[in-house]
Amino acid sequence: MTTRKNTFLTLQGQTNQSPYLIDVDKAEGIYIWDKTGKRYMDMIAGVAVNNIGHNHPKVVKSIKKQLDKHLHVMVYGEYIQDSQLALAENLASILPKNLSCSYIVNSGTEANEAAIKLAKRYTGRQQIVACKNSYHGSTHGSLSVTGNDEKQSSYKPLLPKVDFIEYNNTASLSIITNKTACVIIETIQGDAGLIKPTQEFITALRETCTVNSVLLIFDEVQVGMGRTGSMFAFEHFNVVPDILTLGKALGGGMPIGAFISSYDIMQSLTHKPMLGHITTFGGHPINCAAANACINVLKEENWIAQANDKGQLLENILIQSTQIKEIRRAGLFLAIDLGSFEKVEKVVKNCLEKGLIGFWFLSTPTAFRLSPPLSISEEELKEAGEIILECL
Ligand SMILES: Cc1ncc(COP(=O)(O)O)c(C=O)c1O
Repeated sequence: MTTRKNTFLTLQGQTNQSPYLIDVDKAEGIYIWDKTGKRYMDMIAGVAVNNIGHNHPKVVKSIKKQLDKHLHVMVYGEYIQDSQLALAENLASILPKNLSCSYIVNSGTEANEAAIKLAKRYTGRQQIVACKNSYHGSTHGSLSVTGNDEKQSSYKPLLPKVDFIEYNNTASLSIITNKTACVIIETIQGDAGLIKPTQEFITALRETCTVNSVLLIFDEVQVGMGRTGSMFAFEHFNVVPDILTLGKALGGGMPIGAFISSYDIMQSLTHKPMLGHITTFGGHPINCAAANACINVLKEENWIAQANDKGQLLENILIQSTQIKEIRRAGLFLAIDLGSFEKVEKVVKNCLEKGLIGFWFLSTPTAFRLSPPLSISEEELKEAGEIILECL
C-alpha cells in the first residue's frame, strides 16, 4: 500500500494535498470495495456521476457490444455512427422541441466552453453574464464564467466582458441588454452548496433573455439526469433554456459532455468560418453507447420519481442531529451545513472510517454533500443516515 500510495502521490499529478486515498478494487451498485476488502457506501456517486449506480449491467453490456464493433473511427461529426445517432435521438426524446440538436463532447467544462462559443457565434455579441459563486469547469473559458475570485486570480487574464450577477437577485438582471450574447447559469447551484433559484428570479431571467434576444444557457452538468427528481432540473421551474449543457451522469460512468440547442442555433457553427467547435474524441462510440444505456435505464426504472421521497427520508433522519445548521436539498442531492469547516472535516473523515463516502463542496467549506446513486434503497438510506448521525 505504501508503494502504491507513493506512486500515486508522486507520479500522478495532484492538485489536492489531502486526497481520500481509497485504493479501489471494484465497484457495483452503491458500493466501492478497496484492496483490503473494505466496503464503502458511495453516498456521492463519484460526485453526481453514478446516478444509476456503479457498473450498471445494462451500461456494461452496451459498452461490450460497442467494443466488438468498433472504437474510434473518425473525428466528431464526419461519419454516421450508430451509438452517436442513437444518443442524439435519445436526448431529443427526453428534451423539449427547441433542444433537439445535441453536440457530444468529452466533459462538462468542454460543453460549457462550446456553449459560450455557440452563443457568441449565433448572436454576434460579446458580453457574457454569469453568476457569483458559480462553478462551470476548470478550463480557461469555463473558469472565466466561474464566479470565484480565488479560483480565478492566478489565471488572469481570463475571458473579457464577463459580468457577474448575484444568483436570485432579480434587480441585477438589468445588466442584460441587447449587447449580451448569453447568460450562463447553473439551474440549481451545486458547488455553491446547493442553492435553488426562486421562481421569480428564474422566470424574470428567462423573460429578460427573450426580450433582449440573449441566449440562456443552463448548466446541468451536475443537476441533470434525474438527480433533483426530474430528468432535468429546469423542469421544476417551467422554464426552458436556449442551450443546455450536460456531463457527469449522462455517461453512466463514462466520460462525456453535451451542449444542446435548436438546429437553427447549432447551425451557426457550420459557417463563417466553418468548424466552429471541433473535437477528435467527442462522441466517442463507447461513451455514447454507455450514455444511451444510461438514459434507457433512467427511462425504464422509477428512480427519478422516487428521488424526492428518498431525499426527504434521508433529510428526516439527519435533521435529528443538533449539529446541523441547515440542510439544503433538491431531490437526492443534499448539502449538510454544519456552520464550520472543522466540523465538516471531522464528520466526513469519521464517515470514511465507518465505510461511508461523503464529500466537500468546492466553494462552501461549511457544508458537505450527499448525492448517492438514485438506485439506493430505503433500507440503505436508513443505514447511511444512521452512520452519518453517529458521526455527527
Ligand atoms: C455545474 C458544473 N458545470 C461544469 C462542471 C465541469 O465538468 P467536468 O469536470 O466534467 O469538466 C462541473 C463539475 O463539477 C459542474 O458541477
